[in-house]
Parts: sequence; structure tokens; C-alpha cells
Amino acid sequence: MSGPSTYEPKTPVTRWLDSRLPIIRLGWDSFVDFPTPRNLNYWWTFGGILAVFLMIQIISGVVLVMHYVPHESLAFESVERIRRDVNFGWLLQSMHANGASFFFVAVYLHMFRGLYYGSYKAPREVLWILGVVIYLLMMATAFMGYVLPWGQMSYWGAMVITNLIGALPFVGDAIREWLWGGFSVGQATLNRFFSLHYLLPFVIAGVVGLHIWALHVPGNGNPVGLEVRKGDAGKKDTLPFHPYYTVKDGFAIVVYLMVFALFVFYMPNALGHADNFIEANPLSTPAHIVPEWYFLPFYAILRAVTFDIGPIDAKLGGVLAMFGAIAILFVLPWLDTSKVRSMRYRPLTRWFFIFFVLAALALGWCGAKNPDDYVLGITGFKFLYLGQFLTLYYFAYFLVVLPVLGLIEKPKQRPASIEAAVLGNSATTA
Ligand code: HEM
Repeated sequence: MSGPSTYEPKTPVTRWLDSRLPIIRLGWDSFVDFPTPRNLNYWWTFGGILAVFLMIQIISGVVLVMHYVPHESLAFESVERIRRDVNFGWLLQSMHANGASFFFVAVYLHMFRGLYYGSYKAPREVLWILGVVIYLLMMATAFMGYVLPWGQMSYWGAMVITNLIGALPFVGDAIREWLWGGFSVGQATLNRFFSLHYLLPFVIAGVVGLHIWALHVPGNGNPVGLEVRKGDAGKKDTLPFHPYYTVKDGFAIVVYLMVFALFVFYMPNALGHADNFIEANPLSTPAHIVPEWYFLPFYAILRAVTFDIGPIDAKLGGVLAMFGAIAILFVLPWLDTSKVRSMRYRPLTRWFFIFFVLAALALGWCGAKNPDDYVLGITGFKFLYLGQFLTLYYFAYFLVVLPVLGLIEKPKQRPASIEAAVLGNSATTA
């Protein structure tokens, strides 16, 4: 929590508890009287939405496990049984599968919000890095979860991705066999993926706890990127978290859940792949192996490297580029040299950011297509080339645009304070 505690226990029982385990005080200072900038917009509601989806995934997952069987010859059938025979199994299964997609939509919006408003900048670097750790854990969890229904895409997706490890020099083959627990994706792989898929969400929950802690030390950022002023002036920049932001977050959560319900009830399979309704068959490779939509941009980056770079062969180059695309987020706070946080006041960088968002979406498009197909039917213009150009831009945004523009760009005039940004001329001066 930022600032001194304002909690006063009122009953003998709460006074007794407070002097032994001040847990109500912690809750009060963190979620009731927490001083929150008064200008937060709806992009700041996705943290709360993510917390709700983490809970939805854990609760629906724990109940699904009561009926799921992690066995090569029973897994596929057990999921079908959940859908058809288990009471409300169709609902649980649909919530869990669509919940993963909605979790990723929310996390991408949450991350792009951070990129646009410079939330990763000092003093919030650790908060951002913990976010990247959560994102990595989410990817690992989703990847292993997708293997569990043991459909064709589960099996072959796992095969393609685990085979990438084999590209590592010297140790690659050994690590791959160690991951598989044998000489191919099979029963041992399914068992360990099941075990880890159950474990990791609880690790995520733990890291989210650290994430909120790291948020509550400096307090929330905000759309103008100014810090809350010190002393009494700071009170004019903030509002207590409750009821102002509990209501705003609550409203956003309800709206987001309504869109979620639309998918769960009316198009439960719209985000899935038809091939995963066919049981895994190690002897028949699907025509196009594609990952879930939230991995597509990285899949495009992986496939963009089709040439050897010095001693690094194309396959290893692709793997390094794919992991590098995520690893670069860890050092982002030190790559952006601008003193101004919010892109609202960075007119030039803002354009590069908009192009970055479009590039990320277009990379997803490339990931879904066959690299040798032509973009919009334009002869010669392969998806491979588009993917290569966008991959280059992806890295250039972090390694060239942010370091260089931060030094040379002239930012726009910023308001005097958060209060002034909201109230304009009627605001008092500090
Ligand atoms: C399960 C996943 C996550 C949960 C539950 C979560 C939760 C939250 C919450 C509740 C907030 C405060 C409200 C808000 O700003 O929306 C927040 C802020 C923040 N999160 Fe996350 N987060 C998650 C993942 C991530 C990821 C993946 C990143 C980045 C890679 C990230 C980076 C940040 C940053 C930088 C802030 C501070 C924003 C600011 O105040 O300017 N978070 N998070």
C-alpha cells in the first residue's frame, strides 16, 4: 500500500485480530482506501478482469479434472463424455476452453495498455517484469492444457513445439526426450503435461500476488503518466479505490462476462479447431498444423527465419527469434529512453506504436496462413515475406524506435498535475 494505514478496527474482535494478524487492515488499505489516480480510464480495468478469469479457469478446471482421464486411449473420450453426459459438463468444458481465449484477449489488452501508457517505466519495472513472468507461465499452461483433450491438433501441436527444442545444439535431443518422457509424444508426455497444467495456475496466482504487491508500492500509473503529488496536493490527484474503482471495475467485468457468455452459450466451438474433434493419431499428420490463435504471432516469427545466420541454422534461428520476441519484454524498461511515460504526449512514437499493434495483428494473420500462400492473392507476395518484414519491425520497435525516438522526440506539453488533467482550469495549483 502507498501511504500510512487508515484502518481503525471498531469491534473488540477486529482489534484483537488486528494486533495479531492485520489481514483486515491489509485488505482495507489495498482495496478500500487505496489512493488511486482519479483519471484512470477503462484500459485500467483489465487487471481486475484478468483476476476474475484466473479464478474462472482454476474453478472450472478443478471440477473438470474430476471427470477427465489423462490416458492416451481414454482422454479424448473422457472430454466427449464431459460434454455429453456429465451434469453441466458442457458448461464447464465450454467455460474452460473459451475462458483461455478470453484470458489471453484480456492479457494482450492489459499489456498493450502498458506499452502505450509507459506503465513499465520507473518505478514500475519490477511490476512489469512480474507481468512478463505471468505471461510466460500463462503460455506454458495454455500450451499444455491444449494437449489434454488428445485431439489431432493437441498431439501434433505438442509434437511441433517440443521438436523445436531439438534445434538447440548438443543438448537439444536430450532435453526433448526428457520432456517427452520417451522417444515421442505419448502417455508419459500426457501425464506430465496434465500434472504441470494443474500446478502452474497456482504458481500464476502466487506471482499475481507479487504483481499486486509491486503495484501497491508505487501505486497505479495513469493515462497522463504523471505521478501523484506528495502531501495534501496528492489527495486532490486521487480517489479511494472503493467505491470509485470497485464500481468501475465491476461494470467492466460484467460487460466482459456478457461477451464471454455469448461465446460459451452460442458459439462454444468458434475459437477451436475442427481437427481437434478427431482423436490423436500418430500415423496421420494434419494438412496444416496451427497453434491456438493467441500463439499465432509468435508462430509467424518462428517461421520467418528461413535462412542460416552464420553458424546458427535456420531452425535454431527461428526458435531464438521466437523466444527473443518475449525475452525482449524483460529489458523493455531500459530500452525506452524517453522521460515521458504516456504516448499521448509523444506524437511521433505514437504512430510507431499504432503500427506496432497492426504489425502484431498482421503477424497473427501470417501465423494462421501457409507461408507459401500469397497475401490477398497478390502473385509473388508470400505470407512468408510479410511475416519476415513484420518480424523485423517487431524487433526494430524495441531496439531502434524506442531507444532513439526517446532521445530526439520533442514531447507535447503535459498538464500540471493529475488533478489539472481532469478538472482543467478549475484545478487548484500545487
Ligand atoms: C493473470 C494475469 C494478470 C493479472 C491478474 C494482473 C493484475 C493486475 C492488476 C489488478 C493491476 C492494476 C489494475 C490495472 O492496471 O489494470 C495490474 C497492473 C499492471 N499490470 Fe498486470 N496483471 C496480469 C498480467 C500482467 C502482464 C502479463 C503484464 C505485462 C507483461 C502486466 C503488467 C502490468 C503493469 C505494468 C501494471 C501497472 C499499470 C499502471 O498502473 O500503469 N500484468 N495488473
